[in-house]
Amino acid sequence: MLELTTAGESHGPALIAIVSGLPAGLVLDREAIDADLRRRQQGYGRSPRQQLEQDQVEVLAGLRHGRTLGTPLGLVVRNRDHKNWAWGMSPWPPEGEPEGKGTKPVTLPRPGHADLAGAQKFGLGDVRDALERASARQTAVAVAAGAVAKTLLQEVGIVVSGQALPVAGADEAAVDAARKDRDTLGGIIEAVAVGVPPGLGSYSTKESRLDARLAAALMGIQAVKAVGIGEGYALADARGSEAHDEIARDERGLHRTSNRAGGIEAGVTNGEHVVVRAWMKPLPTLMQPLASVDLETGQPGDALVERSDVSAVEALAVVAEAALAFELGRAAREKFGGDSLGDFVAAHKAYLERIDWQPR
Ligand SMILES: Cc1cc2nc3c(=O)[nH]c(=O)nc-3n(C[C@H](O)[C@H](O)[C@H](O)COP(=O)(O)O)c2cc1C
Repeated sequence: MLELTTAGESHGPALIAIVSGLPAGLVLDREAIDADLRRRQQGYGRSPRQQLEQDQVEVLAGLRHGRTLGTPLGLVVRNRDHKNWAWGMSPWPPEGEPEGKGTKPVTLPRPGHADLAGAQKFGLGDVRDALERASARQTAVAVAAGAVAKTLLQEVGIVVSGQALPVAGADEAAVDAARKDRDTLGGIIEAVAVGVPPGLGSYSTKESRLDARLAAALMGIQAVKAVGIGEGYALADARGSEAHDEIARDERGLHRTSNRAGGIEAGVTNGEHVVVRAWMKPLPTLMQPLASVDLETGQPGDALVERSDVSAVEALAVVAEAALAFELGRAAREKFGGDSLGDFVAAHKAYLERIDWQPR
């Protein structure tokens, strides 16, 4: 089973991922992983931190001479900004006088962020102890893991991509206007997987339904508030005759004449492109802060203002692409198994022959 475990704080020393369940013999390309990390840092409306970070992956385990060993893969993305937070975010009790960032406790929680609920839940006096992990900085290492999953999927002809749809958060003029007003924006992204054979996922249980798993994977990304598969919301307002994808047959086998279902029916892929959308709320850190209450004094005050993006929807597209790739990678590993890449690819090939299916 392909699994991802991550750890790391936004301004801590590093972000860490362990990817287990990869077959042995998969050739990874460091440049391809770093290219996705760079894509995640781009997009109009990002904070200056992105220039500072220049994320690159380090591999500490599970890889030898560029090939996976079939053992847990250990990935690290260092936070270059940590040098400015070395005292404030020191894992061990810091030595010397407080210096740099993060030395004063945060007591004014931001509406829309993890700050207040995190402080209450964990009994924290310094809201930073909550916000550092809740931050979307951790998506860097999830994108690295997604790039590995994309490499695996490419071995069986599946290609995953993501893009921001043209609403305000992806429009330069709208971003400029929001920045001028010291405000923030959200947006919508679409991620697509082509070459996905029928039969990934299952209708057997709610946990195994691929639509449910993709919804969880996308909703698990910071600031995502709604997820749609295929035409999603629009289907609720359509007639059955306009909502389903009719079945046809030509020289390339069985296929559908439309793809309103986004490639998934009954929790199982149906051979059409897998299409998912995610709706992102406006980012919660405003340079013109919203009202808050000081948790120390109980007095009203302005919410925390910290360096922040105006819009991160282009980045969300890359993070969602990684999430879609990872979940499809998991579903492909369940279906095709194999300890070595050769076993995995051979099982895929035999299956396609049995169902007489070719990608479009
Ligand atoms: C790629 C990406 C970048 C983000 N950047 C910021 C940011 O700079 N400032 C901010 O306040 N929130 C940012 N967020 C959103 C917050 O992390 C998120 O709203 C917060 O953790 C609360 O979680 P929730 O919105 O899912 O409820 C970003 C989200 C993503 C996906």
